[in-house]
Amino acid sequence: MEIRSFRPEFAVSDDGNFTPTSTEQKRVEDIVQESYDSFKSRGPIDKQCLFHRNHHVNYLMKSLKSVPSSYATLDASRTWICFWSLNGLRILDAEIPEETQKDIIRFIKSCEDPKGGYGGGPGQSAHLAPTYAAVMALVLLKSEEALKSIDRPMLLEYLLRMKQSDGSFTMHDDGEADMRSSYCAVAVAIICNILTDELRANVAEWIAGCQTYEGGFGGESGVEAHGGYTYCAVAALALLDKFSIVDDKALLRWLVHRQMKFEGGFQGRTNKLVDGCYSFWQAAVFPILEQTLEDSKEMGLFDSRMLEEYILICCQRSEGGFVDKPGKSRDLYQTCYVLAGLAIAQQYSILKDGHIFGGDEARVNVVNPLFNVDPECEHFAKHFFSK
Ligand code: FPP
Repeated sequence: MEIRSFRPEFAVSDDGNFTPTSTEQKRVEDIVQESYDSFKSRGPIDKQCLFHRNHHVNYLMKSLKSVPSSYATLDASRTWICFWSLNGLRILDAEIPEETQKDIIRFIKSCEDPKGGYGGGPGQSAHLAPTYAAVMALVLLKSEEALKSIDRPMLLEYLLRMKQSDGSFTMHDDGEADMRSSYCAVAVAIICNILTDELRANVAEWIAGCQTYEGGFGGESGVEAHGGYTYCAVAALALLDKFSIVDDKALLRWLVHRQMKFEGGFQGRTNKLVDGCYSFWQAAVFPILEQTLEDSKEMGLFDSRMLEEYILICCQRSEGGFVDKPGKSRDLYQTCYVLAGLAIAQQYSILKDGHIFGGDEARVNVVNPLFNVDPECEHFAKHFFSK
């Protein structure tokens, strides 16, 4: 199997005029090259274990029970820890023990704000980001008990309280409004079947106002295009069936240029560095665009094999977990979004040439890019909430 990434002809060239940006880029290419050299030194590709599935499962499974003390800073993101771990485990096709599922449902219930929505931990005020994480974590459990635990009338009240007249949503009472809150509100409302006309009014128009001259979307109007906010914008517009109001060609042009030609992974914005999490935030926009554009003839306008290579050679830790780039520590956020990006890349590689990097042993479950959850769990939830 030929490796497509890490080609010397695609390394950064500053024509002798180095800048802080080109120096940083060169440093990252050097550490990526070291990862590739070490990969080659371990022997021929077909003789290596390219995917350490069991170690990833063990790492994520353990995190459902306890996390290192460094996670104390994530005390307001504890529902995220549930989501990142459960989503990674679903993508890896791992079973969650009954008792653990019950513990998660109890824990998430303890994070529900009596005024609707979820805080990041027990007793904390509701915030739209941990609300998205809590609801999607419950969806991933794919059980009536999990879904029944959501207080939907109060959730709708909370979403309506966050809703602003210009179509944006604040993240929490008196909080800031940005593209994350638009996406979280729309995704949660749609999966829980509580999207009302009042909730959807002007949302797409506010989002469209955040498309920049580059073609991607910023977190709010007038700020730089960024992969995380672009994902939120595109997924929310597609969920609202309002994609036609934005400049799709400019978006596609911006997006295709975010894949790094040496490393194979994605950067989040122009002139910045590759980062594992954009394997999802950027790559997931391609299938959403393709589902949405009526005249789309092209499939997967990025090099999915190169993304698979960046993920398995540069982001994967043999003891389990994934990192942003070589030399960084593993964490649950990266592990979730790198695995979700791998799921997207593999689907394109299968379509393009029938192969995935690492063979069948590396195959992971699919995700619906609109919600970043297993489509079976999504359908289960939608069916449950349609009753
Ligand atoms: C770093 O920006 C930011 C990220 C790596 C995460 C961005 C992701 C989002 C905004 C999406 C959030 C989605 C939900 C559902 C809440 P940076 O400026 O430090 O990094 P850069 O150098 O890569 O631009």
